[in-house]
Amino acid sequence: MQWWRDAVVYQIYVRSFSDYYGDGIVDLQCIRARLGYLELLGADALWLSPFFTSAMVDHGYDVADPRSVDPVFGDMDTFDGLIADAHEHGLRVTIDLVPNHTSSEYEWFRAALESSPGSPERARYHFRGGRGPDGAEPPNNWTSIVGGPAWTRVQDPDSDGEWNPGEWYLHLLTPDQPDVNWTNPEVWADLEKTLRFWLDHGVDGFRIGIADGMSKPEGLPDIEDCPEDAGAAIGLFAPVDGHPRFDDAGVHDIHRMIRAVLDHYPGRMVVGEVRIGDSERFARYLRPDELHLAFNFRLVQAPFDADAVRTAIEQSLAAVEEVGVPPTWTLSNHDVSRPVTRYGGGPPGRARARAMVLVELALPGVVYLFNGEELGLPDVELPDAVLQDPQWERSGHTERGRDGCRVPVPWEGGAPGYGFTSSQPWLPMPPEYGRLTVADQLEDTASTLSLIRRAVELRKTHPGFDGRSVEWFGAPAGCLAFRRTGSTLVCALNASPNLVPLPPGEVLLVSGPLKGDLLPPDTAAWLA
Ligand code: GLC
Repeated sequence: MQWWRDAVVYQIYVRSFSDYYGDGIVDLQCIRARLGYLELLGADALWLSPFFTSAMVDHGYDVADPRSVDPVFGDMDTFDGLIADAHEHGLRVTIDLVPNHTSSEYEWFRAALESSPGSPERARYHFRGGRGPDGAEPPNNWTSIVGGPAWTRVQDPDSDGEWNPGEWYLHLLTPDQPDVNWTNPEVWADLEKTLRFWLDHGVDGFRIGIADGMSKPEGLPDIEDCPEDAGAAIGLFAPVDGHPRFDDAGVHDIHRMIRAVLDHYPGRMVVGEVRIGDSERFARYLRPDELHLAFNFRLVQAPFDADAVRTAIEQSLAAVEEVGVPPTWTLSNHDVSRPVTRYGGGPPGRARARAMVLVELALPGVVYLFNGEELGLPDVELPDAVLQDPQWERSGHTERGRDGCRVPVPWEGGAPGYGFTSSQPWLPMPPEYGRLTVADQLEDTASTLSLIRRAVELRKTHPGFDGRSVEWFGAPAGCLAFRRTGSTLVCALNASPNLVPLPPGEVLLVSGPLKGDLLPPDTAAWLA
C-alpha cells in the first residue's frame, strides 16, 4: 500500500522540536508527548532527523553508531515507544539514513586511523597517497561542499613503528565525516544490517541524505571544467549536475540493494535527497527497483515570482511523469533559510510564505513541512558566538550556515524558552518567537497554524484534490492559476503588486484577506 502518494510529512529536527520535560534534554520522549499536536495538524507521517549516536559535529549527520539512539535523545526503548505511540495516533514514522559517510568517531574510522596503508580497515574509506614531494599535496583537486579541501592527511606507521605524515582520506563534507568506500562489500553489508535493524523496529521508511553521492568515479580523477561549488547560496542542495563527485553511475546499484531490502517489508518507503536538475538523470533514481520518492528542490529554489514558481512546478511534474511516481514538494527544511525570510521577511515575507504553502498543498504528490513552518517562523539572526553549523568555521566565517532555520520551536508564551524548554535552548530563541507560539496560534483562526491545519484538512477531505496532474489557466501578469486535472479545485496565486480578479468559483480558503472580489498581492486562494 502506497500510503505516501499524497501524504503530508512533518519533518522533526529532533534537537529543536520539544524539550517537553524541561530538563534541557530534547529526547524522543518529548516527541511522544507532542504526537497529539501532530495529529491535530493533519500530518500523515513524520520524518525524524538523525538521533543516532553521533559526535554531533553536523548535529547527527555524522553518525558514530548507525544502529543506536544517542544517549542525549534517549534509548531504544524510548524509540520503540515512540513508534508504537505514533502508530496509535495514525502517524507513520520515517527516519534519516546517512550512507555517504560516517562520523570520524565510528569504530571503523578509528580502526582505519590505527592501521596501515593498504589494510582492510582503511579500505572501508577512501585513503590515498598524496601528490607532490613527500605526498604533501591532496590526491586530487576536489573540494568539500561545506568549504575547504575534500582531503585530510593522517599519520602512517613506518617499519619502526614511528608515525609520520602519510595518506589522505576523502570527505565531501567536514573532516569529521569521512566518505565510505562503496566498492567495499563490508560497506554494503553494514548498510543492509542498518536497514533491517530499523525496519524490524517498525519504522515506515527512510530519508536518504545525499542520495546522489556514495558512489565515486573510478580512480577519483581531478575535476575539470566543473561548475562553481555546490552548497554556498541555497544550502547543501544546489543542483550537483556536472560535479563528478556526485551522481556517479554506480550509485544506482546501491539504491537497488536498498530497495531490495525494503521490498521484503511491505508498506515501507524510501525517499532520497537527489540534487539533480536534469530531469532525465533525476528520474533514473526513481526506476521501479530504486527509490520510491525523490526530494526535488525546485520549489524551494524558486523566488516568489509566478513564472518561476510555475516553471518549478512544471519541471517537477515532468521529471516524475515518465516513471509514474508521485512528485514531492518542499518549501523548507533544516538546510535552507525559512520561507518567511527567503521571501523578503516581515509582513510581506509572512504573507508570501502563507500563499506559497497553499500553492504547495494544492499540488498532487507528497508535501514535506518542516517543524516551525506551520507557525510561519522566520530565520533568526544569531550572533557569531552561538553559531554551531560547521559551515561557519569551514568557510572561514564567510558562510553563516544553517543555524538560523534550526532555532527551536516555540510552544507557549511567557518565559524565554517559550515552552520548548525551561532551561537554556541550544540556540537562543528571540522574543519574536514568543509571539508565534503554538498555543497562541491554535486559538487564533487567522494564524498561519490555523491556515495550514485547515488547508491540510481540505486537502484530505475535499473531492477537488483528486487529479494526479495539473492544468494551467490563463492568469493576469505576475499571477498563476491551476487545478488538478479532472478535478474542481482551483488554486490562484497573486505574486504581482496589483489587485487582480479572482477566478470564478466559490472561495474555499485564502491565505490573507480578500479585497471584495479581488485577490490582493502576496495572496493565494483556493476556489471550487
Ligand atoms: C544531508 C542533510 C544535511 C547534512 C548532510 C551531510 O544533506 O540534510 O543537513 O549536513 O546530509 O550528512
